[in-house]
Amino acid sequence: MDQIDEYFDFALGLVKSAGSLISEHANGCKVFEKKSCDIDLVTEIDKKVEDTLIGGLSKQFPDHKFIGEETVAAGGKCELTDAPTWIIDPVDGTLNFIHGYPHSCISVGLAIKKECVAGIIYNPIIGQLFTAKKGKGAFYNDRQIHVSQITELRNALVAFECGTSRDEERCKIVFENFKLIVNHGHGLRSMGSAALNMAMVALGGADANFEFGIHAWDIAAGDILVREAGGVCIDPAGGPLDLLSRRVLCASTPELAQELTKTLVQFYPERD
Ligand code: IPD
Repeated sequence: MDQIDEYFDFALGLVKSAGSLISEHANGCKVFEKKSCDIDLVTEIDKKVEDTLIGGLSKQFPDHKFIGEETVAAGGKCELTDAPTWIIDPVDGTLNFIHGYPHSCISVGLAIKKECVAGIIYNPIIGQLFTAKKGKGAFYNDRQIHVSQITELRNALVAFECGTSRDEERCKIVFENFKLIVNHGHGLRSMGSAALNMAMVALGGADANFEFGIHAWDIAAGDILVREAGGVCIDPAGGPLDLLSRRVLCASTPELAQELTKTLVQFYPERD
């Protein structure tokens, strides 16, 4: 067992037990607060799950660093160094969680030297567990998974989100890209959770996913999951993925990724 296995196994135990905090509210969680705008929301459960994970991991691995969605929202640092860093979204798909739409998950990525080396995406409501470790493949409920072989947008099912900001310029570009995919792709799907969208690409159910305005905690686990399933995860303009750039594009094949980089209208949000 190498060190990444040790980190991963411990994190997986914590994620599974924290999952019960989410599944207890499978029918919805009606008490919430607004964060940056009236569609960017947080519940007590988001905070409890994040505290459970960071509390447990920091006790076990005192030298490790953290980037947690709710800690950052409360004024914490969003700093990625070379140190082992756990990048945590305690409830990805908070809006779904509030409404009782059963697609929410805990997303936990581990970056070492700024590269994601392990990822866990767990939807306890419908029992979906996606995991990946560097060089060891990607798994869905313990079954190894692979991306699809789709190489052209005209044959691609694309996972897409409107995001959780009403910034006018960003929304305009979201709708332009929506039209482009509707006109040139096979179809669009929206899970309401960035991590689950990326998991669908890893599973081969969707062929690509992109988003502008996303955060590191939404994509860290998905990045290693998609790459270990044989796909690509890059910047939407074609360069390497930058976890703090708030931009992501993942696809089943390099050909499809390249076509999307040329097709998409680009947006450059302020960095994390
Ligand atoms: C959001 C979801 C949503 C995506 C947003 C994210 P949250 O995360 O992943 O699908 O479009 O960009 O912020 O707020 O539910 O953790």
